[in-house]
Amino acid sequence: MPDITTSVMKDGQDQRWGDLEHLRRTSPMSDAVLDEVRGRHIRCGDQWLIDFASCNYLGFDRDQEIIGAIEPAVRRWGTHPSWSRLLGSPRIYPEIEERLAALLEAPDTLLLPTATLIHASVIPVLAGSGHVFVEATAHRTVYDGCVAARGQGATLQRFRGDRPDQLDAQLRAVPSGSARLVCLDGVNSMSGNVPDVPRLAEICRNRGATLYLDDTHGFGIVGERRGDELSPYGARGNSVVRHTGETYDDIVLVGGFSKAYSSLLAFLALPTPLKDLLKVAAGPYLYSGPSPTASLATALAGLEVNERRGDAIRADVHRKTAKVLDHVRDLGMATPNVDGLPIVEIVLPDASDLDAVAGFLWDSGIYVTLAAYPLVPRDRVGFRVQITALNSDDDIDRLNATLTALCERFAVRRPGS
Ligand SMILES: Cc1ncc(COP(=O)(O)O)c(C=O)c1O
Repeated sequence: MPDITTSVMKDGQDQRWGDLEHLRRTSPMSDAVLDEVRGRHIRCGDQWLIDFASCNYLGFDRDQEIIGAIEPAVRRWGTHPSWSRLLGSPRIYPEIEERLAALLEAPDTLLLPTATLIHASVIPVLAGSGHVFVEATAHRTVYDGCVAARGQGATLQRFRGDRPDQLDAQLRAVPSGSARLVCLDGVNSMSGNVPDVPRLAEICRNRGATLYLDDTHGFGIVGERRGDELSPYGARGNSVVRHTGETYDDIVLVGGFSKAYSSLLAFLALPTPLKDLLKVAAGPYLYSGPSPTASLATALAGLEVNERRGDAIRADVHRKTAKVLDHVRDLGMATPNVDGLPIVEIVLPDASDLDAVAGFLWDSGIYVTLAAYPLVPRDRVGFRVQITALNSDDDIDRLNATLTALCERFAVRRPGS
């Protein structure tokens, strides 16, 4: 009798995962076990590397004030609340929810452990037996939530964020009277770019649809635009809705604390009646274990630090990112990044180079996120560099020198190609 692995492979699934599985087996940068971390320098076996794969954009993972908030909270609440949220939430939950709503200037917020759980449970509730539209480059977890909605009776169509008129036509074509949900990334997890939220929101409002935005990468980085802002990222890091000057009318915003705030926690910004509905309709509020106390404590402390020091940190991340992006452009390398955010995607013209490029970066002591198929479509295979506050100027110089050497050795995509 074949075991389960053999059965799955026979089913043809292995072909779908083949490239990724190959990389997992052959590249030290995939499925790595890390032995030591010093800021953004990490050791894997004997090899020290500079970490450009971390999404701890604000450096809160090593912030002494934030680390110091963990022990008192654990002493008070224990290591883990253990109740599902419907059974009981330590007071720290409403404290975070209220503070977060004030920061986002949103009507209300609801905390759940991860954005993945939110998408899987909330998208099907919002879609019902209506119509879901998912943006072609939306994060896999958003897409999976949309597929779950389809499994529960909704129809599913794709659209392209850079073709809003196409979305408008798709929305116009579905029968009126049924739910319509339009799902996409806020700051895109691969390109690092900000979508045209005002245009998309306008279309959604005109067509009776709800815009569902996953700004897991933007929360803590982009924020409201102001005359006294310290960088073009805007002020306060209060996410893409405020950054693009939008309101929360007909918009449900999802964000994660797992990137900029270095905590296992995620949220929805939403009207209070919808929050109350989700308390009984969204599975994780009823059935899942909650975030650990340490994460609740670091999220709350992070909100406090963000108010006092966030803008200065963001200005520093912006400056360092600009150094990388300027260098990439000087080298004549293409990157989809046009908004200057700290996610720099480098696409390889020949996907079969990925193995060798990964080996070269590893040998040069540079640790990045590899983007292999099927994590990305075949024409987007390459790697992604993230810049965080804890990457020093020396780290940035090392990265830039390595990119120069990489250009000499490998074919790179040129702008416009
Ligand atoms: C855009 C986006 N959404 C969701 C997630 C998953 O977030 P979480 O860890 O909160 O499930 C990620 C993680 O990489 C992401 O990049």
